Amino acid sequence: MAQFIVPKTMHHGLGSLEKLTELKGNKAVIVIGGGSVQKNGYLAKVQNYLKEAGIENVVFSGVEADPSIETVLKGAAFFQEENPDIIIGLGGCSAIDAAKAMWIYYEYPDSKLEELVALFAVKELRKKAIFVAIPSTSGTGTEITGLSVITDREKGTKYPIVSYELTPDVAIIDANLSASMPKGLTANTGLDVLSHGVEAYVSNIAENFSDSLAKGAIDLVFKNLPTVFEDPDNLKVRQVMHDASSMAGMAFNNVWLGIVHSISHQIGGTFAIPHGCANAILMPNVIRFNSKATDKYEDLAALVGKSTSEEFAQAVYDLRASVEVVASFKEYGISSKEWDEKLEGMALNAMKDPCTLFNPRKLDLKEMKAIMQACYDGVAIDF
Ligand SMILES: [Fe+2]
Repeated sequence: MAQFIVPKTMHHGLGSLEKLTELKGNKAVIVIGGGSVQKNGYLAKVQNYLKEAGIENVVFSGVEADPSIETVLKGAAFFQEENPDIIIGLGGCSAIDAAKAMWIYYEYPDSKLEELVALFAVKELRKKAIFVAIPSTSGTGTEITGLSVITDREKGTKYPIVSYELTPDVAIIDANLSASMPKGLTANTGLDVLSHGVEAYVSNIAENFSDSLAKGAIDLVFKNLPTVFEDPDNLKVRQVMHDASSMAGMAFNNVWLGIVHSISHQIGGTFAIPHGCANAILMPNVIRFNSKATDKYEDLAALVGKSTSEEFAQAVYDLRASVEVVASFKEYGISSKEWDEKLEGMALNAMKDPCTLFNPRKLDLKEMKAIMQACYDGVAIDF
């Protein structure tokens, strides 16, 4: 017996942003990042559609990459002043994730991050506002999921807040907004989608619904990521990647992820390496490690015309190389001195990350460190 939670409404396809005209409410706060949606004209489009729907709007801008708790509190204070009944997260995953966390603090001003990071600790939302997510990147699937990742810079770690309360009410999956993603971001976010599909597919609570969405997303990424990397103006293919991101999001929102994410949450928090890049470096060795406990990678190998889990690990390795993403943390430029200093702490935190609970193979700290070290050195593991 299981439940499967997705946003109530998903509008998708080129031009679906226009569906904002059907929204009902009085006042929206639009949360954005550094201003790219301002420059490319999509903020103005959103504002015009809201106006058409008779909805007043105000903008909270300046959410940084890997949003901090300070930004979240600033946004929540802005919400308290403006009193919106609609919150719109518009832009990359940082803007949407921050908007979700602001939503919690708007509805429950006395919330504490230490308490929110406990699983499903978020109390009932939607007493003050509903949430609309409009992603401009095709990666995290945050427009679908009950997940918000907030960074504590002092402690150098990322805190995932996980609750189905955070699943957006409306997701608008319009690839016109992702058209200006630079090549590197297209590659990294696409590889993040792949990691969501792969980790959801082998999750120890995977089921039929998640399996078909995860497999579908993986298939779409293998077939389309190299094309969109080479032909960034191909909006039709961009929409396929945008859809794949949401499909993988639907899968992992319900069956979680595994140790690729447990580890990359730590490495991302410590070294600011792009999330998708870290995941792509980790995936082949995590596939090798987990393949001792599950034969499901063989299904994925079949999807890409191969047969063994090792061949699938190699196919992931080759896909990463085809979109010019580095093969190891050393190659990314992390110094061995810094790596050695931080490894133990990162591994300890990775063991405690909630995603570790859903990994198909249990592991101890020694194995966690050995996987991480092999991914630093760029060598294949054999255990
Ligand atoms: Fe991810």
